[in-house]
Amino acid sequence: MSTEATFGNPQVIEEEVDILVIGGGMAACGCSFELMRWIEGTGLKVKLVDKAAMDRSGAVAQGLSAINTYMGGQDPADYARMVANDLMGITRDDLAYDVGRHVDDSVHLFEEWGLPIWKQPGDEGKSLKDGGKPVRSGKWQIMINGESYKVIVAEAAKKALGMANIQERVFIVKLVNDKNDPTRVAGAVGFSVREHKVYVYKFKACLLAAGGAVNIFRPRSVGEGTGRAWYPVWNAGSTYAMAAEAGAELTMMENRFVPARFKDGYGPVGAWFLLFKAKAVNAFGESYMDKNKEMLKQYPPYGLAAVPASCLRNHLMMHEMKEGRGPIYMDTPTALAKLAETMTPKEIKHLEAEAWEDFLDMCIGQAGVWAGENIEPEKKASELMPTEPYLLGSHSGCCGIWVSGPEDLGAPKEWSWGYRSMTTIKGLFTAGDGVGASGHKFSSGSHAEGRIAAKGMIKFALDNKSWKPELDTPVNELVEEIYRPVRTYLTHKDYTTAIDINPNYITPKMLQFRLQKIMDEYCAGVATWYQTNAKMLSVCEEKLEMLKEDALKMRAKDLHELLRAWENYHRVLTAEAHMKHIQFREESRYPGFYYRMDFNLIDEKNWKCFVNSTYDRKAKKWKVFKKTHVDLVSKPTASGH
Ligand code: FAD
Ligand code: ADX
Repeated sequence: MSTEATFGNPQVIEEEVDILVIGGGMAACGCSFELMRWIEGTGLKVKLVDKAAMDRSGAVAQGLSAINTYMGGQDPADYARMVANDLMGITRDDLAYDVGRHVDDSVHLFEEWGLPIWKQPGDEGKSLKDGGKPVRSGKWQIMINGESYKVIVAEAAKKALGMANIQERVFIVKLVNDKNDPTRVAGAVGFSVREHKVYVYKFKACLLAAGGAVNIFRPRSVGEGTGRAWYPVWNAGSTYAMAAEAGAELTMMENRFVPARFKDGYGPVGAWFLLFKAKAVNAFGESYMDKNKEMLKQYPPYGLAAVPASCLRNHLMMHEMKEGRGPIYMDTPTALAKLAETMTPKEIKHLEAEAWEDFLDMCIGQAGVWAGENIEPEKKASELMPTEPYLLGSHSGCCGIWVSGPEDLGAPKEWSWGYRSMTTIKGLFTAGDGVGASGHKFSSGSHAEGRIAAKGMIKFALDNKSWKPELDTPVNELVEEIYRPVRTYLTHKDYTTAIDINPNYITPKMLQFRLQKIMDEYCAGVATWYQTNAKMLSVCEEKLEMLKEDALKMRAKDLHELLRAWENYHRVLTAEAHMKHIQFREESRYPGFYYRMDFNLIDEKNWKCFVNSTYDRKAKKWKVFKKTHVDLVSKPTASGH
């Protein structure tokens, strides 16, 4: 049989399980581990499907140098307050508190599984669980030797699930609703990125934990640097797009994260600010956080926060750049010299090694930039730069899906509907980047949230044990839809002599450039210093609508392009949600992340609320609306709750 015939005619594999886990990242690994603790004797069947290989998939692929969420005896209510403050007051305190009260158990497991966690002198060899004191870089963050973090966490999940219940290198394209109940999911369909196979899964419950959204905006990296981004390039908004298409309510999709990073390599700044106590300065050596601190007074909580929100730190930094006092630098020489004052030469060498290791553990590219540009951090400062925007719900952002919260924390009744972590669609659960309105979970919190979701899913699957999923679309139609880019290619490829140039189709790469240009120029990307207005947004809206139409004409000349085509489809839908939410929220809630120049203020009276939305898959239309926000932890009480 010729390769082409096989390419156009994939084998279809149908499988029915009770619980499907989509994604193999931190949340999915946590979920899998926890599912298998409760499943014994229930007869429930579980499967995990990841587009990549679990050992190195998702945001932790390169490794990390810190665990950014660890309570270590601190009050989860304080943590929930910090989360709310960093996200400008609009978060679900019930969700953040729930992560806070569970997260340390995940961190203790990581250590038990072999993750090296830095300890205070004298406590080396003593585990966290046994009272070993970690080296804290900040109030919530602890340092690790984390190059192999993901391998360690994945190993535990794989061991719990068993390899027979794991399908790697299958990209899930869409969820399928139930034939008899459109408010319920019954299946998911995807394709192998290595073999000519389409997979159709039926299930009672599923965890959708496919990470955040990267490469929606034109990145700063160009030419040979293209592909370098901060968040993982392979997380393409699948979580948000598939949930929206299934009818789930999204929340805070206007939120984004614009990380200030070491320029060009996207190296992390946390350890430099928090552990090495470095200052970021303008081209004239002035600390913009000190110099511009008056600017914070006009924003909630009106200069009272111990640490200004991430967006406001950007706001102060960009002010310097816009006023012509760039570039901005991380003053590494002063920070290291200060720390070295009380150190022996051997200790100083160790400190310098730690500075390199921070990058080598989670962002090798930045160490490459240092080496390539002859930067010795103890001698030469490094440039910082705000990056292109990213959409995520687990790091310093909070876009995502609206989920059912815990019942015991005094949250409004309508924030909880029976099964913890279930979305507004029956049987569809999420965690990590998928959960909206509660950021700052990071790696550990995402794992913990996956574990929390697992319990809700088991309960749901057991309560619905006799229920049989039935797909609302025939399998052959699903297969045809997924392979449409392949058919388009095979039908039209001989029309021209150069396969990339053809009036009948668009390559996924070109479509991605078009999406990035639209978002960059009209939806507050780097091209406009993160500024937009209603007029620009309506141009954006029109262009995205046309792009959405053209997305159906993407071609796939091989399986890799089929992957790129469907990633882009997810990106376009996620981008549209982002744009619609920014359009709806008539204020600038996140100065430093984006500015609505026609409403360049924070309007607490009218907009201290969630913005939620739903998508109608058939009509291809969004409905965007307000949802009341309630503070559950705004003021500490005597008990600290
Ligand atoms: P991920 O871990 O990203 O997992 C997503 C999974 O979904 C992956 O397995 C992916 O392959 C899969 N997937 C995606 N699309 C599909 C699809 N369509 N079908 C099937 N599978 C799919 N946290 C810390 O605690 N400390 C740090 O120092 C830290 N530093 C970071 C530095 C960087 C550069 C980055 C990117 C993140 C960092 N984080 C850090 C945050 C942390 O990595 C994330 O919060 C966490 O990984 C989110 O977990 P998740 O499961 O939601 O997503
Ligand atoms: S990382 O994920 O790439 O390591 P990042 O460098 O942004 O993230 O930050 C790591 C942790 O440090 C996060 O908890 C973040 O909120 C915190 N952090 C980063 N910069 C600062 C700062 N200037 N002040 C306070 N906290 C900070």
